[in-house]
Amino acid sequence: MSELLQAESLNKTFGAVTAVHNANLHINPAEIVAIMGRSGSGKTTTMHLLAGLESPSGGRVVYRGQNIAGLDEDALAVWRRDNIGLIFQAFHLIPTLSALENVAFPLYPARVPVAKRRQRAAERLAQVGLADRADHRPSRLSGGEQQRVAIARALINNPGLILADEPTGNLDSETGADILALFHRLRDEAGVAFVIVTHDDEVAATADRIIRMKDGEITNNEL
Ligand SMILES: Nc1ncnc2c1ncn2[C@@H]1O[C@H](COP(=O)(O)OP(=O)(O)OP(=O)(O)O)[C@@H](O)[C@H]1O
Ligand SMILES: [Mg+2]
Repeated sequence: MSELLQAESLNKTFGAVTAVHNANLHINPAEIVAIMGRSGSGKTTTMHLLAGLESPSGGRVVYRGQNIAGLDEDALAVWRRDNIGLIFQAFHLIPTLSALENVAFPLYPARVPVAKRRQRAAERLAQVGLADRADHRPSRLSGGEQQRVAIARALINNPGLILADEPTGNLDSETGADILALFHRLRDEAGVAFVIVTHDDEVAATADRIIRMKDGEITNNEL
């Protein structure tokens, strides 16, 4: 089995609402997949299920042969830290920390020594073109710069898969294009796979594959 991630018959209900219904999908290594669909169609819920941030009401998510539903809370957090990079539309940066400290933040529970943490964070900031903003707090960064800090943070543990919920939604088209170019570079150079939720046809057109959702269902379902 060569897939990086496989979701089988995924279901998620919130009370009477079926957010995701019988979704089957796979993600290959070094592949960029876009998820498209109208507001409320279940895209974010699907991302949360793939990241183990929500547990499915039915079905399973298998990452590199491991069923993540079989992990307890602590093991799941470690699995996520080591394998998944998360990028949200709202950047979720910590306002009291500098750009460098935000990027290094996921390393704290891993007990990485301070000097090593700072060095790795600095490398990631350089990778997103922000070496000269390392000491800035988020309030002293532009929206695009904050998004790039969030991307650097998502990269800090060399994840195999990055899940990005509208990563370019708040950005001007030029900054958005820079970020997509960065994703393509990471795919080509580091073999990182991406799932990108987007409403933007131009963003989706840069993906290797598009998954379409409607009313909680994947309309181009694989099984
Ligand atoms: N925690 C929750 N409790 C109850 N209902 C929820 C919850 N999260 C999502 N839903 C419902 O599930 C459906 C899918 O929501 P989801 O956030 O996945 O949509 P989406 O495709 O990401 O939409 P958007 O494009 O607006 O971000 C919606 O009808 C939503 O109201
Ligand atoms: Mg959403």
